[in-house]
Amino acid sequence: MNRHRPEAGDNINNVILKNSNEHKIILDYVAKYDQLLQAQDFGLLQRQMTATVEAMLRDLADHFAAEEKYFFPAALAGCANPADIVLVLQLQKEHGVLETELAWISEKLGRAGSQRNTEPARDFYRQVAGFLNRLKDHARLEIVSLFPLIDATPAMRKKFEELTAANARGP
Ligand SMILES: [Fe+2]
Ligand SMILES: [Fe+2]
Repeated sequence: MNRHRPEAGDNINNVILKNSNEHKIILDYVAKYDQLLQAQDFGLLQRQMTATVEAMLRDLADHFAAEEKYFFPAALAGCANPADIVLVLQLQKEHGVLETELAWISEKLGRAGSQRNTEPARDFYRQVAGFLNRLKDHARLEIVSLFPLIDATPAMRKKFEELTAANARGP
């Protein structure tokens, strides 16, 4: 890959921009599925989710991995307040819960797809609705709490720059 050599301060902006774009994509997924749930169009929801859930699994795994590599360690390393540690631990825990839930949804969709004319149970839709709400709340918490905190805390920003610069240089 022909890699652009970043200027000082470029990394933090690129990583934050990429992350914000991903949040927009995630919230678009959530809005799309939520609309199908609200409309009680379960057949369409199932078809749409089946078509996109593998991509969503991959996208979420990459997105979470970047947050766990840069954002969370930077916040913890520059942290002077126990409430900030609790925030990061909560977000980290939510990643695990969301990944497990999406893997469960993916497995259910795969199984439903292999059985002809079988509508998954109402429980499945409740679980999808819960997953979508938790994913939305998780992204919002990062957008309104974690990212402004990192941005406003010089020690966190410094660590974030170090981590992203080290990654751009490679091992
Ligand atoms: Fe996250
Ligand atoms: Fe996120």
